[in-house]
Amino acid sequence: MDKLMIEGGIALRGHIPISGAKNAALPLLAASLIAPGEHTLVNVPRLRDIRTMQRLLEHMGAESQQDEHFHIDTSRIHTPEAPYELVKTMRASVLVLGPLVARFQHAKVSLPGGCAIGARPINLHLEGLERMGAEIQLQHGYVMAKAKRLQGTTITFDQITVTGTENLMMAASLADGVTVLENAAREPEVIALAEYLNEMGAHIRGAGTPQITIEGVPNLSPGTHTVIPDRIETGTYMIAAAITGGHLTLSPCHPEHLEAVISKLEGTGATICVNDGTLEIQAASAIRSVDVKTWPFPGFPTDMQAQFMSLMALGDGVSLITEQIFENRFMHVLELRRLGADINLDGRTAVVRGVESLSGAPVMATDLRASASLVLAGLAADGLTEIRRIYHLDRGYETIEQKLKAVGARIWRERDQD
Ligand code: EPZ
Repeated sequence: MDKLMIEGGIALRGHIPISGAKNAALPLLAASLIAPGEHTLVNVPRLRDIRTMQRLLEHMGAESQQDEHFHIDTSRIHTPEAPYELVKTMRASVLVLGPLVARFQHAKVSLPGGCAIGARPINLHLEGLERMGAEIQLQHGYVMAKAKRLQGTTITFDQITVTGTENLMMAASLADGVTVLENAAREPEVIALAEYLNEMGAHIRGAGTPQITIEGVPNLSPGTHTVIPDRIETGTYMIAAAITGGHLTLSPCHPEHLEAVISKLEGTGATICVNDGTLEIQAASAIRSVDVKTWPFPGFPTDMQAQFMSLMALGDGVSLITEQIFENRFMHVLELRRLGADINLDGRTAVVRGVESLSGAPVMATDLRASASLVLAGLAADGLTEIRRIYHLDRGYETIEQKLKAVGARIWRERDQD
């Protein structure tokens, strides 16, 4: 295993290129299962989770390669199954369920199991498929789903779910009749998936609003699609500028994907402007403490909560950070405390009292975004920070140390003996 070493206290300056969005690329790869033939995806990031999805699709019979673009041929799928060995390493594997049932009328997908940030059940995915006429059985840790042909219907989510919306949008693309998803997720990645499905011949309207209407068609054909820039990677590097007293430009960027994050960071005193796809952020001389509550898009993203907490650890007052999406997404708090942060938990709210400075120490990554928060804190801390188990980080941040080194960070990777 590797560990990341960071010598903190350097103001970052320069330009960071933003990669394609992991959480857009994953559903797009799953969608390739719906239409046999060769799909081409442009701007797919080189990440651990992408490789996991690639292995999963190849296990089923797909052929793929990632050169400048990502080519995947799903003509010869022989095993519509997602085994536990792969699903347990990446919950987004559940995104193959809808496409498999739609195209093959049956699927065997491992239940994802637990996760560091919460129980993360998939009941809403399964209830939606059942409402469309699928027969769902849970056996030996697997979801066994089958349906002669899914029937269009109205599905109202009692909780907003991103991959639940994506799974059922894909399933409904080939259903008999019209499906309406009510209380649907509005994330940019949902919109991107709808755009790709429509390029493949689907008839989807309303993506990005709480009501999505999908008119089923007999079949879809493969297409080409460019992955949107990663808004969470962008937000993470915005905080890298703000927390180190630096000045960064980030591109490409769709500011409409980041309005809540931009507005919160301006509230802390940072100066941000966006000009034709490039975001520029200048750190404030003093970081103002502000409160934040996570919420589905267009609210403040839960995937930015840990990173924002690192910034608030150096705020000028007290910040209340409330996590309203996941029940256990404060694993980074214990590690941030090791770096000198003053944080107390009160149920779903973290009370963050800003301190003068953080001090480097060995810490442990527990999940993807918690790892990012430790990198950000390490960049600001005095002295050396060692971050262990950074395989979590490699799931969602493409060449993070190269990108940070290029703007002045003293950061390097070492083999971890223990
Ligand atoms: C997606 O996960 C993202 N992953 C997550 O990003 C992100 O944190 C999350 O959406 C929220 O924005 C991908 O897109 C691959 P949800 P997802 O279904 O779809 C509950 C990252 O760091 N729920 O929107 O799994 C659930 O427990 C990852 O990149 C049910 O109860 O999240 C949670 O409390 C982490 N039953 C809430 O809904 C269900 O059937 C939102 O979950 C589904 C969800």
